[in-house]
Amino acid sequence: MAELRLEGVGKRYGGRGEVVALEPVDLAVRDGEFITILGPSGCGKTTMLHVIAGLVPPSTGSVWLDGTDITDLDPRDRDMAMVFQNYALYPAKTVRGNLEFPLRMRGVPRRERARRVEEMAHVLGLTPLLDRLPRQLSGGQQQRVALGRALIRRPRVFLMDEPLSNLDAKLRAQMRGEIKRLHRQFPITTIYVTHDQAEAMALSDRVAVMNRGVLVQVGPPAEIYHRPSHVFVAGFVGAVPMNLARVRLHRVEDAVECLFPGGQRAVRVRLDGTPPADAAAVLGVRPQHARWAARPSDDGVPWIPAVVEDIDIVGEESYVLARVEHGPLLSVLDRAGTAAPGQSIAIAFEPAAVHLFDEATGHAVPVERVTAARRGDSPAYP
Ligand SMILES: Nc1ncnc2c1ncn2[C@@H]1O[C@H](COP(=O)(O)OP(=O)(O)OP(=O)(O)O)[C@@H](O)[C@H]1O
Ligand SMILES: [Mg+2]
Repeated sequence: MAELRLEGVGKRYGGRGEVVALEPVDLAVRDGEFITILGPSGCGKTTMLHVIAGLVPPSTGSVWLDGTDITDLDPRDRDMAMVFQNYALYPAKTVRGNLEFPLRMRGVPRRERARRVEEMAHVLGLTPLLDRLPRQLSGGQQQRVALGRALIRRPRVFLMDEPLSNLDAKLRAQMRGEIKRLHRQFPITTIYVTHDQAEAMALSDRVAVMNRGVLVQVGPPAEIYHRPSHVFVAGFVGAVPMNLARVRLHRVEDAVECLFPGGQRAVRVRLDGTPPADAAAVLGVRPQHARWAARPSDDGVPWIPAVVEDIDIVGEESYVLARVEHGPLLSVLDRAGTAAPGQSIAIAFEPAAVHLFDEATGHAVPVERVTAARRGDSPAYP
């Protein structure tokens, strides 16, 4: 059992505490949970992990493990294992020697050590490599030894700081699968740090998104993706970035019309609660939730006239990049694959998949999840 809780944990550096590495944060990690700290470089991920490990004392707050305050406990007494980005294997020890070392340090008897090494090597596909030295291994194999060495003594908490960032893209994807499988086999409470949103989404039970020392949103991957609570999360998560465009909200009866700076109607939505009158907001729509046509159809939603500037090919899919006059450049999934630069098109958003954020605070403005404005409310095309 290992349930980890951070209560108001913050960290400041500098003589007068002028560098805020981590704003006070509350976070509860369930026993056996795999949680990822996701955010850009310098946002405080490593700081949080080091406070949990006891390598760095927090400036405020406390760290709890299974109901015990461990804030001042020595790192060696926390029973946590950490894998760093620059994992250092013992160069003069074989794979077997590296895996065995933590058990030796804890005085585990020889036969038990041998059994656990065999087991871990089998799980990680390292059995044929047990007698090799680290320099005789590929990067991915070395990384697997580092993971095995950390896990072999079954720590209460497993901490990983960007453990895959030294590997190439293909190996990263493969190791991602291995880490997931490993966690299923040994469900140890895990905190995994990465700046790679795809990695976070693929691995985690929950993702904790950080920006500039602030924990912005914590939730399961699907929630983070579909219901971002802040414009930062909306922009950071997703293989293809969400369209984020400035709009003015204009109240029309019981709904609001979102207008681009040039006055073009973008979409009409209903808000949960009273729509603000003429407020500034940021409209967010994923390219997958927008469609385009050479000619708009009469289906009751506003169609946005735009001119294709470019076609972006991302693997199997391609995206149309089209400019709205006096408005934003929009990215739209190109299902038909027939758009050409210079072509005039019309774009429509799925009202049910539209996000709105307060322009000043970045916080989500709750949108009522209804489909389309009522037919005949307004002309389909201006
Ligand atoms: N010992 C220190 N003294 C002063 N400032 C520090 C110290 N350690 C970290 N910082 C600052 O705290 C902030 C957070 O650093 P941290 O290493 O936690 O970021 P990170 O999210 O892990 O970034 P990366 O993805 O680049 O590893 C940064 O602005 C960093 O410069
Ligand atoms: Mg870091």
